Amino acid sequence: PEAITVGELAKRMGEKGAQLVKALFNMDMMVTVNQTIDQDTAELLVEEFGHNIERVSADDVEIKVEQDVDPEETLKPRPAVVTIMGHVDHGKTSLLDALRGTNVTKGEAGGITQHIGSYQIETKDKTKITFLDTPGHAAFTEMRQRGANVTDIVVLVVAADDGIMPQTIEAIKHTQAAGVPMIVAINKMDKPEANPQKIRERLLEHEVIVESMSGEVQDVEISAKEGTNLDELIEKISLQAELLELKANPDRFADATVIEAQLDKGRGPVATVLVTRGTLKRGDTFVVGTESGKVRAIVNDQGKQIKEAGPSMPVEVLGLGGVPGAGEQLTVVENEQRAREVAQYRREKATEQRTALAPTNFDTMFTNLQ
Ligand code: GTP
Ligand code: MG
Repeated sequence: PEAITVGELAKRMGEKGAQLVKALFNMDMMVTVNQTIDQDTAELLVEEFGHNIERVSADDVEIKVEQDVDPEETLKPRPAVVTIMGHVDHGKTSLLDALRGTNVTKGEAGGITQHIGSYQIETKDKTKITFLDTPGHAAFTEMRQRGANVTDIVVLVVAADDGIMPQTIEAIKHTQAAGVPMIVAINKMDKPEANPQKIRERLLEHEVIVESMSGEVQDVEISAKEGTNLDELIEKISLQAELLELKANPDRFADATVIEAQLDKGRGPVATVLVTRGTLKRGDTFVVGTESGKVRAIVNDQGKQIKEAGPSMPVEVLGLGGVPGAGEQLTVVENEQRAREVAQYRREKATEQRTALAPTNFDTMFTNLQ
């Protein structure tokens, strides 16, 4: 295998030599910037720094480093990922039920959503939309935040009889922080005490200006219970999605984000992931967080096993080595050897970050002794 000096590699990566030396040190390799490393190690380093490698030709092993983005010509349209947010009991799950034609709310303990539910629907014009449900309860701040971070569009559900409440405001803040467009769905319009205009006015206080108040945020009055205006809501979502021109490369190893994960009694560790690019296939070898694994099964939102999942698809993945944390990245790699290397490297990096806190503690210890 060809070799490259650490300094030369750093230059091509646009990184500092010292950073690479440090990363190598964490891989138990004591080298200076002038020493050479083999190609496998170089490739591992390059990937860890978030770059891509391009082999110029079979016998030209020069490493060409570039940003890890898919070339324009590989990109294809992908479904929008839409997160439903809002205060507890404002009708988020009911809305999703109505859109899907199912009845999830009745199956929930106390009618309260405790996790992020993810579903895909197909509109009349055959385009797909991925929906993520979130809990409105105050205790689930982190899930709302996560929802805002993995989404393309937020649908803010506000009950017309209840108005703007604490978790409505919190959801607005997460959405604004994530820089994601919002559509306001004023729900429970079937109730006699519904007051949608008051909601539009109160939204102004939080810098959410709907179109009728000469702003740019779309809003729609709905009733999840009676199925009123749901087509209009879907139309507004589709319009917003079109403006975003959402695309991803489906023809590559998959990257996915962990939405939630748990240890299932019968099935072992199970993660619900959202594929961000590429196609996840049964049998794929992957790294998620600091664990490696092999896709044993992929389960869709209908509970059916499928062979593969493309961009924007929410699926359950079985075959993990442990339970990953929500928000962690799942990355498919070419083989098990590579998966173990990457997992090991990430584990060491995590340990290093933990021990990096130690010197500070010693410092204060000595100061206190003086
Ligand atoms: P959390 O998941 O706990 O945050 O609640 P949620 O926002 O998902 O609310 P959910 O869909 O569970 O609905 C709460 C209650 O409001 C239920 O009793 C629903 O039947 C009722 N509800 C939802 N939508 C409507 C509506 O359009 N009209 C009326 N009248 N009731 C509704
Ligand atoms: Mg709910």
